[in-house]
Amino acid sequence: MRLLKHHRFDHPLSSEITPRAVHLRRREWLGGLAAGAAALALPGASFAQAAATPPGKLPALPGARSAVPGSITMERATAYADISTYNNFYEFGTDKADPARSAGRLKTRPWTVQVEGEVARPGTYDIETLLRLAPMEERIYRLRCVEGWSMVVPWVGYSMAELIRRVEPTGNARFVEFVTLADRSQMPGLSSGVLDWPYLEALRLDEARHPLTMLAFGLYGEILPNQNGAPVRLVVPWKYGFKSGKSIVKIRFVEKQPRTSWQKAIPGEYGFYSNVNPNVDHPRWSQATERRIGEDGLLARKRPTLMFNGYEAQVGQLYAGMDLKKDF
Ligand code: MTE
Repeated sequence: MRLLKHHRFDHPLSSEITPRAVHLRRREWLGGLAAGAAALALPGASFAQAAATPPGKLPALPGARSAVPGSITMERATAYADISTYNNFYEFGTDKADPARSAGRLKTRPWTVQVEGEVARPGTYDIETLLRLAPMEERIYRLRCVEGWSMVVPWVGYSMAELIRRVEPTGNARFVEFVTLADRSQMPGLSSGVLDWPYLEALRLDEARHPLTMLAFGLYGEILPNQNGAPVRLVVPWKYGFKSGKSIVKIRFVEKQPRTSWQKAIPGEYGFYSNVNPNVDHPRWSQATERRIGEDGLLARKRPTLMFNGYEAQVGQLYAGMDLKKDF
């Protein structure tokens, strides 16, 4: 129970306070976003173009507009300044501002991702190889955190299915585990016992293979800022944000359902599936509504949360016949 007092998921309201620096940067961005919204309405417009004021600080990572059904929400993208300063990355601390402050020291080159377990072609993939493995796509996904806030993020990457196909899972592979970096020399948050390190998340194989499940390498047309999970992270848009592990170093194909870091920490609150579901309350707060970072002020009425975060048409059939109250 000590853990609960210290981790931020205990305080959904405190997460809504916007630091002044973020607020000021957001204002600089507003003009650009209006132009961006107009560009998005044009068929074929690229999101890198749409961000009329591209961040410009990191190497470019362009991608072609994705054709995966559901991969482009028409909702307004959250400002880069918010996406990159309001983060959960507990390896760098539990405050939303900690990752932007201290993830700069993370070394993302050289970087390898080990693929192991129930696959015909296990191996160690260099990040440069992964970057060339499949064509880069731009996708605009909603990201909803279990804490009750959401963002709209223009990611760059490709379907996890591209990698899965190449490593050829065996008939025994039923789940995919994502293990992320745990390096005390680079990650000050590891000295806290808030989670069982390394951060581990997992999906059922068919969830991992779904075309919306993405390996992301960039956002807003640039490589990922370290605080958003550089050099490679998972993005699963219909699940609460914590299912999307950052800075992945190992992908393991296994037969038995893994126990994830959040399940180990608080099994009664964070189930394996963690699909966004407004009908299943978190034991300590409702999940029926959410606040959009950068748009909804503290006094604004919260917006309703959608089943599967709005991706029900694409992913609902993966859970046919399951009791989503039990399998939360
Ligand atoms: N991955 C690692 N390795 N460590 C973390 O603490 N936090 C998760 C997820 N992935 C986390 C992680 C949570 S709770 C959320 S909401 C998202 O990352 C946040 O991603 P973002 O900062 O890009 O918005």
